[in-house]
Amino acid sequence: MLAPPVRCLLDTPGLILWLTGAGVSAESGIPTFRGKEGYWQVGSRNYQPEEMATWAAFQEMPEEVWAWYLYRRGICRGAEPNAAHRALAAAERRRGERFLLVTQNVDGLHLRAGNTLDRTYQIHGNIDFMRCSRECLPAPVPMPEGVDVAWGKGRPITERELQALKCPSCGALARPHVLWFDESYDEANFRFESSIDAAQRASLVVVVGTTGATSLPMHIGTIAAQRGIPMVVINPEPNPFSALVQRTGQGAFLCGTAGQWVPEIVDALPSA
Ligand code: OAD
Repeated sequence: MLAPPVRCLLDTPGLILWLTGAGVSAESGIPTFRGKEGYWQVGSRNYQPEEMATWAAFQEMPEEVWAWYLYRRGICRGAEPNAAHRALAAAERRRGERFLLVTQNVDGLHLRAGNTLDRTYQIHGNIDFMRCSRECLPAPVPMPEGVDVAWGKGRPITERELQALKCPSCGALARPHVLWFDESYDEANFRFESSIDAAQRASLVVVVGTTGATSLPMHIGTIAAQRGIPMVVINPEPNPFSALVQRTGQGAFLCGTAGQWVPEIVDALPSA
């Protein structure tokens, strides 16, 4: 149960910024990014996500990179939003412009649960979209028909699917609409400046299910700490965000799962 000091933190008329990572989708059955099962075999070699999710790998073996993403997309499409996703959609309905969600997840489950694109910044992209690898399109486009969503691990991509994965404008091979490890955040694709701006305006930050291994999420945590605003951290394990809370004394670490804590927090939010 939420302790009274945590309830006090929630009693804010200002913007609440939620920051989510793979942990929020763990209870939907999507393996976390750094959990086991992350590797992908090409020939006789195992590649880790940090090697596959790169522009360099796409340059070298585009068909393999696409096969890996299509496999991961199949897992995401087979999953359903869980109690934490549903609670966050309810929080947006209740708070409107005083709600903002910054998510690292590319699985699209927050949107499927009912959060809107206006108030959800998908800072690592969305696996259901692709864009031109030569960046000739003004915006990402939905994944085309004709690409199987139930993808078996290790199955190679077919010629027909490769044809479907072409940029509809220039005909170059398209790429998954995700941020890769050897790329940088930007505003047009990943809402970089908007996320920083939100961190500078928020009166509370709630961080759910992330290791804090990427730069923009940690930047948001650091801004919150520097501004002296409280941060509520939900995770089964301590992480760099809970360490920030411990250092600043502003906020709380709720040890446990997203499904356990997020609905309870949303229930406790003042409705006005
Ligand atoms: P990780 O896989 O690194 O971390 C998952 C986090 O969720 C860990 O801190 C777990 O303790 C926590 N966790 C596990 N089960 C949970 C549950 N049921 N409820 C709450 N928390 C739980 O995933 P991320 O931190 O999201 O970026 O990874 C961030 C980014 O790393 C990914 O978006 C990806 C990768 O670099 C890109 O691809 C650019």
